[in-house]
Amino acid sequence: MDQATAHETLNRLWARGCEFLGTEVALMGGAMSWVSERHLVAAISNAGGFGVIACGAMNPELLEKEIAGTKALTSKPFGVNLITMHPQLDDLVRVCIAARIGHVVLAGGIPPGGAVRAVKDGGAKLIAFAPALVLAKRLVRSGADAIVIEGSEAGGHIGPVSLTVLAQEILPHIKDVPVFVAGGLGRGEAILSYLEMGASGAQLGTRFAATTESIAHANFKQAFLRANARDAIPSIQLDERFPVIPVRGLANAGTKRFLAHQAETLKKFDSGELTKETAQLSIEHFWAGALRRAVIDGDVEQGSVMAGQSVGMVTTIQTVAEVIAELISQAEAALMARAEVRQGSPGISS
Ligand SMILES: Cc1cc2nc3c(=O)[nH]c(=O)nc-3n(C[C@H](O)[C@H](O)[C@H](O)COP(=O)(O)O)c2cc1C
Repeated sequence: MDQATAHETLNRLWARGCEFLGTEVALMGGAMSWVSERHLVAAISNAGGFGVIACGAMNPELLEKEIAGTKALTSKPFGVNLITMHPQLDDLVRVCIAARIGHVVLAGGIPPGGAVRAVKDGGAKLIAFAPALVLAKRLVRSGADAIVIEGSEAGGHIGPVSLTVLAQEILPHIKDVPVFVAGGLGRGEAILSYLEMGASGAQLGTRFAATTESIAHANFKQAFLRANARDAIPSIQLDERFPVIPVRGLANAGTKRFLAHQAETLKKFDSGELTKETAQLSIEHFWAGALRRAVIDGDVEQGSVMAGQSVGMVTTIQTVAEVIAELISQAEAALMARAEVRQGSPGISS
């Protein structure tokens, strides 16, 4: 197989994803709070992928400005990721619809019916996260136009199941809508394998966070360059009475301090100094503002350096276009190598 044929094959494999997103390549930039702002989002879309603004805790006015700022930097399609717990979710959806955003991603739990209807009635496509097959089926029934399955290898808030398992559980059974895979993806060969299993495209976060166009602080990017897969660990819960939402990030002084803070809070609760509610809140509030502190201020020791296990595959700071080109060439090289193996070429060895 020559490269042109490999290119055609790859295009065929992710054609459904490209058509759904309106892009040349079916690679989504996973929304990352503080990181996925206008510059990175526009860079991903301009490079042929699909950038997604992370609304995070932004209010509707700020989101409106971010959308306008992104539109000034790209004429290509991009999406907006909204967190379902946001107290102004309905207003944020209205902002997206008024700005004619084509794709709204609802993250952080099963999206409420009202928001689903508002997105769809407004003419946008709805993308939702499915952490299990039953939920994927339910989301499709309730109107999701595409599903993202995000494995526990991912950076940020994570579920308990790896992408390897989620893909086997979900891809053979969800055919009505495109499914995008996410979590721990750093090379084109892996993306190709999931496309061959039935995925329509892939979503990457960590690799894009460390690009030239990412506004993340130089310290944040350097931390990514230094880190190995094993350094990106989920937050640890000390006591099941006080649940901790698992977030994957780089181990640092902050993650150690979080353990000490939980231990101290537990002691205070056990001695009656704190009520259950105040103790839980104190644990929940520990990380407030911590992602901003790492991404924007560059405090990678005390801040939250969210990263996927894919961080080990960040070895240089590249432009977004270079990352995308590299992923494509790896996928194409894998296709060509396999064709040679099938033809029994003597050139292939272990
Ligand atoms: C720094 C950081 C912040 C993130 N913030 C969000 C977010 O605000 N909303 C969301 O849906 N996902 C968030 N994610 C997850 C990404 O969108 C993406 O799914 C994930 O990074 C994929 O795994 P990977 O990092 O191994 O590529 C975040 C990930 C990182 C690394």
